Parts: sequence; C-alpha cells; structure tokens
Amino acid sequence: MTERKILEIQGVTVSFDNFKVLDGLDFSMNYGEVRFLIGPNGAGKTTLLDIITSKTAPSSGKVIFDGHLDVTNWVEHKLVRHGIARKFQTPSVFSSLTVYENVEAAISFRTPKLRLLRPLNGEQRDKVESVLEMVGLQDRAHTPAEQLSHGEKQWLEIAMLLIQEPKLMLLDEPVAGMSRAERDRTGELLHRIGGDRAVLVIEHDMVFVRQFASIVTVLHMGSRLCEGPVEEIQNDPEVIEVYLGRGHKQKMSA
Ligand SMILES: Nc1ncnc2c1ncn2[C@@H]1O[C@H](COP(=O)(O)OP(=O)(O)O)[C@@H](O)[C@H]1O
Ligand SMILES: [Mg+2]
Repeated sequence: MTERKILEIQGVTVSFDNFKVLDGLDFSMNYGEVRFLIGPNGAGKTTLLDIITSKTAPSSGKVIFDGHLDVTNWVEHKLVRHGIARKFQTPSVFSSLTVYENVEAAISFRTPKLRLLRPLNGEQRDKVESVLEMVGLQDRAHTPAEQLSHGEKQWLEIAMLLIQEPKLMLLDEPVAGMSRAERDRTGELLHRIGGDRAVLVIEHDMVFVRQFASIVTVLHMGSRLCEGPVEEIQNDPEVIEVYLGRGHKQKMSA
C-alpha cells in the first residue's frame, strides 16, 4: 500500500441556517485504503460525501483529489470521469433489466457520449464478467434486477460503480437492511475492492465495523473526534461517551 493521498479534505465548513454541519473538517485517506467513517446521527457523515460529490457546496475549504486536483464544486459527470463513484443508501438499479444489462448500461455513465445502443466489444464483455464475478453475481447475470434480494441489489449497484473503474468509492451505509450473512459477504467484498482503489464507507453497524474495519474515523458535530485502529477507537472514552454509549459497548464486546 502506498502512502499517496487519494483524498484530502482541507478545512471544510458547511452551514445550514447558521448551524455548522461540518466545522473546519480536515480528513484524508490514502490509495488502497478501506476507511470506515462512524459517528452519531447528524454528525455530518452524509454531508461529507455531499461535499466530495458537489451535491453541497462548502462555505469554505477545499476537496483535493488524487494528490493535486482541486475538485471542489466540480460537476458530477466530471468527478465520475476522474474516478469518484458514490453509492447512495437506496439501490437505484433498472428493475426490468437483467443484472448483466444493468452493468452494461453503467459503462456509458463514464463515457462522455452515450454508448448505450452500441454492442459491447470483447474487452468490455470481459470487464462486465469480471466485475460480476468480483461481486459474486455471475450466476445471476441473466436474472432481471427486480428478482434480486435486497443484498444482491446492493452488490449489483457496487458492480455498476466498479465498471466505471473508480479510484475512490464512497458508500453510505451499504449493509443497512442486509441479513448477517449478506453483511459478511459485503465486508469481504469491500476488502476485495480496496487494494487497487480507495473505499470510504459510512457505517452504523458496529459489529460489522469491528469485523471489517482497520482504520476508523469518528465524526462528531462536524469535526473529526478521533481516528485510529478499530481496537483503539472502541475503547476511547470520548467515543464511548458521544457515540457508542453503554448499549453499543456491550454489543461491541459481545
Ligand atoms: N440540505 C440540508 N439542509 C439543511 N440541513 C441539512 C441539510 N443536509 C443535512 N442537514 C443537517 O445537517 C446535519 C448533518 O446531517 P448528515 O450529514 O446527514 O448527518 P449524518 O449522515 O452523520 O447522520 C443534520 O442535522 C441535518 O439535519
Ligand atoms: Mg447519513
């Protein structure tokens, strides 16, 4: 793993009605990292993703991508072309298309001209197949997306991001609503995805975090409360106070 920075958030502040949702936030991550972001409701986690993807404009601060590019407020398609991909909480797949066709359609998201109607070349077909294998949906390739389970839909959406070959993937609570078995498969998938690219995962499920996270960043009231290995984070008195609480602490040590 290199120490090269893929993402650097520099002093980002976001205010809504005089309330600072992000408050001079500094945050960075390296290539090849799978970073988990946790924190209480309203801490500003989703807003951080909104800043990175220009859904919200910061009142001050910068987003630096890939070591040198200032991508603050860039339009979405330009971000996608440069390798930033975001998955939202609710799956947004085309339900009447098959798994394969969904991934095929997603190829065009990154190319400036619409290629939807052109048949895939051999190289593209290989790519679709390897992405389906990566997320474990190769046997479901010809199933209409509407017949997939909730977990499978989430994996399909991850496949639709992977086909765009992102350098940075942003996932907001990817395991919400999944069974424990699906969560385990997703955790393993995140680690397969990382390595070549960086993945930033917002997560609530502390059992999942403890199982699959290495470095965790804790956000609280729009700033970084602390950051470090998950074993340290779960024993940090401040984190226990503001986030984990007694119920979570019991869950963590179960
Ligand atoms: N577009 C918006 N307008 C006004 N307030 C917002 C907007 N987006 C988020 N907020 C507020 O910002 C705070 C942080 O929200 P969010 O980033 O969604 O937190 P988290 O994802 O950590 O739960 C919340 O208090 C929320 O109500
Ligand atoms: Mg959120």
